[in-house]
Parts: sequence; C-alpha cells; structure tokens
Amino acid sequence: MRHALALGVALAVASAACAQERGAALYEQHCAVCHDKKGEGIPGFAPRLAGNLAERAKKESGRAYLAQLVVSGMMGPIVSGGEKFNDAMPSFAALSDDEIVVLAGHVLGDLNGVPGEQRITQQEVAAARKRALPPNEVRRLREQ
Ligand code: HEC
Repeated sequence: MRHALALGVALAVASAACAQERGAALYEQHCAVCHDKKGEGIPGFAPRLAGNLAERAKKESGRAYLAQLVVSGMMGPIVSGGEKFNDAMPSFAALSDDEIVVLAGHVLGDLNGVPGEQRITQQEVAAARKRALPPNEVRRLREQ
C-alpha cells in the first residue's frame, strides 16, 4: 500500500516535470523566434513575455485573453510593458488544447512565476476556440 502511494507520488512528480519540459520545447519551437528563448521579446516588434503577464493571469478575464491570443493571434496597436507595438502575432489554433495548456504553462509558470491554479486550463482553451475571434478583436479582450 505504502509502495503504491509512493509510486503514485513519484508518477505525479514525473508527469509535472514532463509537462514542464514539453511546454519549454513547444515554446522554443513556436514562440521563441519572435519572443526570444527567455521571453525577452524583440524591441519594436514582439513584446517581452517574461515578468509581464502575472497580473493578467490573476483574473479570469486576463486568462481568457491569453488563451484567445494563442488560439486566434492578435493584430493592431498595443502598449505592453510601457512600450508600443503594432504588428501581428499568428494564430496557433493548429496546436492541440493540451499543447496550448502546457505551452502556456511554461510562459506563465517558468517565465512569470504564476502559480498552477492561475494558469490556463483546457476549458479556457476550448472556450477560446468556440469564441473564434478575429485577430484585431482580440485586443478588446486585452483591455478588459
Ligand atoms: C511571428 C512572430 C510571433 C510569434 C511566432 C509569436 N508571437 Fe506573440 N506576439 C507577436 C507580436 C507581433 C505581438 C504583438 C501584437 C500586436 O501588436 O497587436 C505578440 C503578442 C503576444 C502577447 C501579448 C503580450 C501582452 O502584453 O498582452 C503574448 C502573451 C504572446 N504574444 C505570446 C506568444 C506565444 C505564447 C507564442 C507561441 C505560441 C507567440 N506569442 C508566438 C509576435 C509573435
């Protein structure tokens, strides 16, 4: 019995570590080209992600925005971290819900120190797919 429990704990820890590694790998594959491997962004083109997203993740509306952004992409003028941007981020709707969850887990958890319960869930990704906003309307969610 005790062995089974220990095994269960070990498996849970291993699967969390595995999700974290998958998230980092997906981020590198899909996002790092524009936002930098460490999330530092490209001045004048793509905003910094590291350290800028924790406040948004605290609110349900902030998480809805982040999930929508990855599903739909975004375009048009924004101010992020005090800097102006006005370009286009592509949609990542081709990724699975699970891939988006672990990828966002890397961005929020590893790059922003956001605790597990404030990260994006499968339900939030599914809701974003249903809403299917065009990229220029995603900015409206950002302002909420
Ligand atoms: C081709 C370049 C490119 C790629 C690839 C890309 N982004 Fe972006 N991203 C942008 C641009 C440009 C913006 C700003 C869009 C605007 O000006 O409206 C942006 C905005 C963002 C924001 C908004 C920040 C804020 O302050 O609201 C987040 C979060 C983000 N991207 C995350 C990601 C993630 C996660 C990925 C990978 C799945 C990704 N991006 C892939 C170019 C990119």
